[in-house]
Amino acid sequence: MTDFDTLDYFTDPAVVDDPHVYFDHLRQQCPVKHLPVYNVVAVTGYDEAVEVLRDADTFSNIIAPIGPFPPLPFQPEGDDISAQIEEFRDQFPLAEHLVTFDPPMHQRTRSLLGKLLTPRRIKENEEFLWGLADRQIDEFLDAGKCELMREYGQPFALLTIADLLGVPAEDHEMFRVHLGAQKPGAMSEADAMVANPLEFLDAKFTAYLEDRRAEPRSDVLTSLAEATYPDGTTPEIIELVRLATFLFGAGQDTTARLITAALQRIAEDAELQKQLREDRSLIPNFVEEMLRMEGPVKSDFRLTRTSTTLAGVEIPAGTTVMVNPGAVNRDPRRFEDPHEFDVDRHNAREHLAFGKGIHSCPGGPLSRTEARITIERFLDRTTDITISEEHHGPVGERRYSYEPTYILRGLTALHLEFVPAP
Ligand code: HEM
Repeated sequence: MTDFDTLDYFTDPAVVDDPHVYFDHLRQQCPVKHLPVYNVVAVTGYDEAVEVLRDADTFSNIIAPIGPFPPLPFQPEGDDISAQIEEFRDQFPLAEHLVTFDPPMHQRTRSLLGKLLTPRRIKENEEFLWGLADRQIDEFLDAGKCELMREYGQPFALLTIADLLGVPAEDHEMFRVHLGAQKPGAMSEADAMVANPLEFLDAKFTAYLEDRRAEPRSDVLTSLAEATYPDGTTPEIIELVRLATFLFGAGQDTTARLITAALQRIAEDAELQKQLREDRSLIPNFVEEMLRMEGPVKSDFRLTRTSTTLAGVEIPAGTTVMVNPGAVNRDPRRFEDPHEFDVDRHNAREHLAFGKGIHSCPGGPLSRTEARITIERFLDRTTDITISEEHHGPVGERRYSYEPTYILRGLTALHLEFVPAP
C-alpha cells in the first residue's frame, strides 16, 4: 500500500496511472500543502489556485514548465528573491520562452501572439481543419482501426499549428517527417528520428522570416515577420522564431492528448457515443468536461518571489509552488460529484485546464476547435467506435498506459476499432 504522506510525486510510478487518489489525499489535509520533497508546496484547491495564477507579482513563472528540476541555480536569500531571479534568469531551462517570462517582458512578447491569433486567422485555420481531419481519417478508415495518438492526434495537432503560422501547404509533409508524425509506412521511424525537431524548426522559421522580411508577400508568415512590439519596435528574427517554435511545443502534445482522451471516453461509453451521435450540440460541453476530468496539463509551477501566505500556510520566498490543474478541476467545493463525468455539467467550463491570469493558454480556443472538429468527423465517418480488446484487454480488465511524467496527463497510445459509415 502506498504511503501518500512520504510519496515522491515527481518520481513514484504509483501516481502515474491514477493521480487523483493522491490529489484528493493532499486536498483533504489542506488545499495548500508542503510536500516532504524538493521544497515544494502543492496547491490542490480551486480558489487557492486562482489566487496563485492571478498574482504574477508574488509568483514568478521562471520555473513554470519544469518545476523543481533541476534545482535552483542559487541559494534563496531573504524575503524577496526578485533580484536573484533576474541575476540567474538565463540559467533556467527554457528561459528563452514566453511561458517562463515575467512582467514586463511577458506582456511585450505575448502582444506578438495577439497579432498572430486574430479572429480572421483563427477562422481561416478552422476551415483548414475540417479538410485536415478528413485527410487524416482517410489514411486509416478502410482498415477499420488505428492507433489514434500517432496516426491522428500528433500529426493533426502538428499540421494545425503549421497552418496557423502560415507554413506553406507544400512544406507540410516535410514538417510531418521531421517532427516525427509521418504517415504510417511512409518512412521508417529510425529515419524520422535522424532529424532534431528543434533544429529543424529553428532553421525553417529563420529562413521563412528572413525571406518575408526581404520580400514581403500577402501571407501569414509576412504578418509574423512584420509584427511589432506595442512600442513600435521590431523584434529580432530569433525572438519570432522562438515564439513559433514554442507554439509547436505547447500545442502539439497537449492537444493530441485531449483528442485521445476524448475518443477513449467515446469508445468506452456506448450510451454517451449514441447521445453525441444524435445531438451534436452536446459536443462543446463534452469537450469542456473532458478538459476538466482529463486536462492534459497535470501540474504547473511557480516560484515564490516574496515570502507570502496562502490559505493560512506560510510560504517562504524561493519555494516551488505546484498548482495542479488535474486536482483543482476535481475540487468538490467547486464541482459537484467531481469524479463523475457529466456531459451536461453546467459549470464544466470553469475548469483551469488552460490556466488563468496573464499566462493563461492562448491556444485554448484552438484546442477546443480541434477537438470538436475531430469528434464531429469521427462520428460522421463511422457508425461504431470501440476500444481494441487485442491491445487494451476486455471490458473490466482494460490495460492503458499513461505518460510517466509529473507534468502531462495522457495515454501513451490508444488503439481504436470502428465501422466505416456507408
Ligand atoms: C488541450 C490543449 C492545451 C492545454 C491543456 C494547454 C494548457 C496550457 C496551460 C495550463 C498554460 C499555462 C501555463 C502557465 O500558466 O504557466 C498554457 C500556456 C500556453 N499555451 Fe497552452 N495548452 C493547450 C494547447 C495549446 C495550443 C494549441 C497552443 C498554441 C497554438 C498553446 C500555446 C500556449 C502558449 C504560447 C502558452 C504560454 C502563454 C504565456 O505564458 O503567456 N497551447 N497552456
